[in-house]
Amino acid sequence: MNLQLDPASKIENSHIDHFWSDIAEGLKSSPKHLSSKYFYDKTGDHLFQKIMAMPEYYLTKCELDIFKNKTAALADLIIPENEPFDLIELGAGDAMKSTYLLKYLVEKNIDFTYMPIDISGNILSILNEKLKSQLPALEIVSLKGEYFEMLKKAASLSSRRKVILFLGSNIGNMNIEEAEHFCSDLNKHLNSGDIVLTGFDLKKNPHIILNAYNDKAGITAAFNLNLLTRINRELGGDFNLNQFEHYQTYDPVSGACRSYLVSLTDQKVTVKNEIISFVENELIDMEISQKFSDEKIRELGEGSGFNMIGELKDSKKWFVDTAWQVK
Ligand code: AVJ
Repeated sequence: MNLQLDPASKIENSHIDHFWSDIAEGLKSSPKHLSSKYFYDKTGDHLFQKIMAMPEYYLTKCELDIFKNKTAALADLIIPENEPFDLIELGAGDAMKSTYLLKYLVEKNIDFTYMPIDISGNILSILNEKLKSQLPALEIVSLKGEYFEMLKKAASLSSRRKVILFLGSNIGNMNIEEAEHFCSDLNKHLNSGDIVLTGFDLKKNPHIILNAYNDKAGITAAFNLNLLTRINRELGGDFNLNQFEHYQTYDPVSGACRSYLVSLTDQKVTVKNEIISFVENELIDMEISQKFSDEKIRELGEGSGFNMIGELKDSKKWFVDTAWQVK
């Protein structure tokens, strides 16, 4: 019998504490904001799957085009030398796109370990099951947690060369300044010769971008509102979802695509023991999905200590996977 304190419940509690302190800070700020990294509970994972399947949401289809139809070129880009390596995926989710690359590498008998990192334990266990049945020969080490903590963990587990996948325009959830910090930090967590492959959503006709985040069926709205439901459930909040409405913007000059929730009335919401007041039409800033130019991407990579080693675009040239190598 195990008489020690249950470490799992301690981890769970520290997760709730982080969640609450982030939410409290955001709701007490002016303007109010919440972090989109908290969208992904079980319902959020499910809603994001539905978003990826929507006709308007072109991002996944474009990157899938690259992973499905340019797999060999992709593999050549990220494994220039013939030595064993760790393939680490930040925010792996269901790894729908990377599975094409994994399959290719396994079939070529390349010696590597796949290490998916995700904040959602739910999606990681689904992924584990899926890969075990589809690619039984694949070596997998799943890492549940924040990106940099898990990168340190990965480095402690093996000293092999690292290839980092950061796909799906997840980098778009940071504004440009945050992305610059992130890329510099990422560079510092890696060793010379390590490679990062990042998926960027490119600037394009602004109607196409806005439509991808403003679907008629209201799935994106539900995705945003679900964070209020999560706060109600996990932090004992009393948000009335009928009193908030999703609002989406896209600024083609800066490339910032932003989502907000608008308070439809003057109202008070209680979360834990805090009372949060909203005036009618007050906004909660929920998410940024930043769009990039080729030039901005180059600036970002070079400014954070990488050499550009190549890139692959989809056939429409709407999305790019860019390979950078640590100097
Ligand atoms: C998962 C961050 C890439 O910003 O496009 C989709 C999330 N939000 N629809 C994105 C999202 C609304 C998505 N990323």
